[in-house]
Amino acid sequence: MNNLENKVAIITGASRGIGKVIAEQIAKAGAKTVCVSRSLSDIEIVAQNINEQGYTAVAIACDITNGKQYQELVKSVNEKFGSVDILVNNAGVTKDGLIMRMSEDDWNIVIDTNLKGAFNGTKAVTRHMMKQRSGRIINISSVVGLIGNAGQANYAASKAGLIGLTKATAKELASRSITANCIAPGYIETDMTNQLSEKIRNALIEQIPLGRIGQATDIAAIVRFLASDEAGYITGQTFTVDGGMVMS
Ligand SMILES: NC(=O)c1ccc[n+]([C@@H]2O[C@H](COP(=O)([O-])OP(=O)(O)OC[C@H]3O[C@@H](n4cnc5c(N)ncnc54)[C@H](OP(=O)(O)O)[C@@H]3O)[C@@H](O)[C@H]2O)c1
Repeated sequence: MNNLENKVAIITGASRGIGKVIAEQIAKAGAKTVCVSRSLSDIEIVAQNINEQGYTAVAIACDITNGKQYQELVKSVNEKFGSVDILVNNAGVTKDGLIMRMSEDDWNIVIDTNLKGAFNGTKAVTRHMMKQRSGRIINISSVVGLIGNAGQANYAASKAGLIGLTKATAKELASRSITANCIAPGYIETDMTNQLSEKIRNALIEQIPLGRIGQATDIAAIVRFLASDEAGYITGQTFTVDGGMVMS
């Protein structure tokens, strides 16, 4: 199941949190996995751990907001491994604040990273995937992109934008058997959610029908499936992985 042998995968934001676990799971499924973030030392540790377990990973630093750097990253992956089969646009940031107090800089950083970063990645892999006539693009959005959240106008807009980007990508590339899908996680246990007070944590859990905060492995499992050949007839979709918080 979900065999990714002979595939090459690029995972952004692989230095920690959800991206780190996605990189580990994709590598375990057999793909040569390229771990990307701005901090080389952090992704080197992730890649080294994967290699020590007998799987294959490399670390390449890249600021995904920079389209030129992204093009160079994809070129070097293609030269090293001969293909780019899977792109997981996972890197993301938050700069929360109410709209009336949100600075233009905080708006721009979030849109540039979460939305333009995914566009830069999609653009950079498209030529290679079109030539191959195959590919998987998986964007990590958020339930906040579906339902909004006070204090997160920039983040909600970026995550809703990712859903539109996914649909446009899916329509543009479908004729070459390239799929593009989106995942909208709910609350996932990461460094960020671990810092919440017991009271806020319990209030959050009360909103989740399955009664628990999600794990990064819950997200990695669906990424691994969508990246596989078995998911070849699914494109342009957004999957909420949120313990049932948002039901449509
Ligand atoms: N945690 C949740 O509950 C939750 C819920 C819904 C959606 N999500 C989404 O899931 C994704 C991962 O979330 P997370 O909580 O695991 O995040 P995280 O722990 O804060 O990690 C973010 C990752 O993105 C990288 N990154 C940030 N800016 C970058 C840039 N310009 N270029 C390259 N890499 C960059 C970071 O590495 P560097 O700083 O070294 O660059 C890091 O590896 C995000 O898109 C987030 O919005 C998370």
